[in-house]
Amino acid sequence: MTQYPKIYVAGHRGMVGSAIVRHLLAQGQPIDHIVSRTHAELDLTNQASVRTFFEEEKPDQVYLAAAKVGGIYANNTYPAEFIYQNLMIEANIIEAAFREGVKKLLFLGSSCIYPKLAEQPMSEDALLTGALEPTNEPYAISKIVGIKLCESYNRQFGQRFGVDYRSVMPTNLYGPGDNYHPENSHVIPALIRRFHEAKVRKSPFVTIWGTGIPKREFLYVDDMAAACVHIMNLDKAIFDQHTQPMLSHINVGCGEEISIGQVAELIRKTIGYQGEITFDTSKPDGTPRKLMNSSRLNALGWQAQVGLETGLEAAYKDFLINHVSIN
Ligand SMILES: NC(=O)c1ccc[n+]([C@@H]2O[C@H](COP(=O)([O-])OP(=O)(O)OC[C@H]3O[C@@H](n4cnc5c(N)ncnc54)[C@H](OP(=O)(O)O)[C@@H]3O)[C@@H](O)[C@H]2O)c1
Repeated sequence: MTQYPKIYVAGHRGMVGSAIVRHLLAQGQPIDHIVSRTHAELDLTNQASVRTFFEEEKPDQVYLAAAKVGGIYANNTYPAEFIYQNLMIEANIIEAAFREGVKKLLFLGSSCIYPKLAEQPMSEDALLTGALEPTNEPYAISKIVGIKLCESYNRQFGQRFGVDYRSVMPTNLYGPGDNYHPENSHVIPALIRRFHEAKVRKSPFVTIWGTGIPKREFLYVDDMAAACVHIMNLDKAIFDQHTQPMLSHINVGCGEEISIGQVAELIRKTIGYQGEITFDTSKPDGTPRKLMNSSRLNALGWQAQVGLETGLEAAYKDFLINHVSIN
């Protein structure tokens, strides 16, 4: 075997998967030791195709960053697709990886696994302590299943076969490769698009839903990728010291929160829009705070590196290069 592992990045064309590939390459991983397939080449909901792929490729490590992802509208409109496709993708990849002797796998979940009314900041042990947010419950349940698949394979096959499957729960991410769809994007890409369009059209103001007071946490996607590689490569003894067999997932956030109003102001400055920001307070605000407790990750030796202003500049550059023609 060569000195480099053969790494399969599932979802390599997505925002997080592509950042993981960038990070691995920057760390010196040879491109011919990174395996990938587009959705058109390999439908991960198809068990037989996934098994054949693993039999042929036999990777050493797997980053599971493929998923059906979407905002509130998509989650509400297509709940069956969200739960079915995500369950199938996770179950197919994890079982096929195990069958082909993959020892190391990292599953990406989401902060929506935590109860709607979880204490803030949300710690890993808030999992399964209360009811979930109803709008994305099917998606959240599929992500909880992903964590439990990893833990169950570790518990049953860890000692015998050296299986070591880990999972990370990212906070809100932004950066290159984000989705800027007008109706179906997250806060930062939606605001980047709206401020950019207001600048181009010389609109006097941009209106934001709600009071702007709720606080959120945002992590630059390249930081997320670095955290994924860090967790994947952590020595097992150290990982085990900080986790429990049935509470093994790790929150990934920057630990800082910012109000929607403040983030809008930062985006306005990044884009160079001269108009006003107004708030439509007749519209709902949503949860007042949503912050991850990332102390487990910090204790494992990782901290976010990219500040919001720097990250927003890089995100806007990517938007200008790759997305300005979207209508
Ligand atoms: N973005 C965030 O803010 C955020 C926050 C928390 C957690 N996460 C998690 O991070 C992971 C990656 O998210 P992301 O933002 O990178 O999503 P993304 O940009 O939508 O990427 C997901 C990738 O998975 C692929 N995929 C979906 N279904 C597939 C299938 N049946 N077969 C093969 N490929 C399939 C997609 O390909 P197609 O586009 O061709 O379908 C896409 O390339 C997800 O698990 C998500 O839950 C993301």
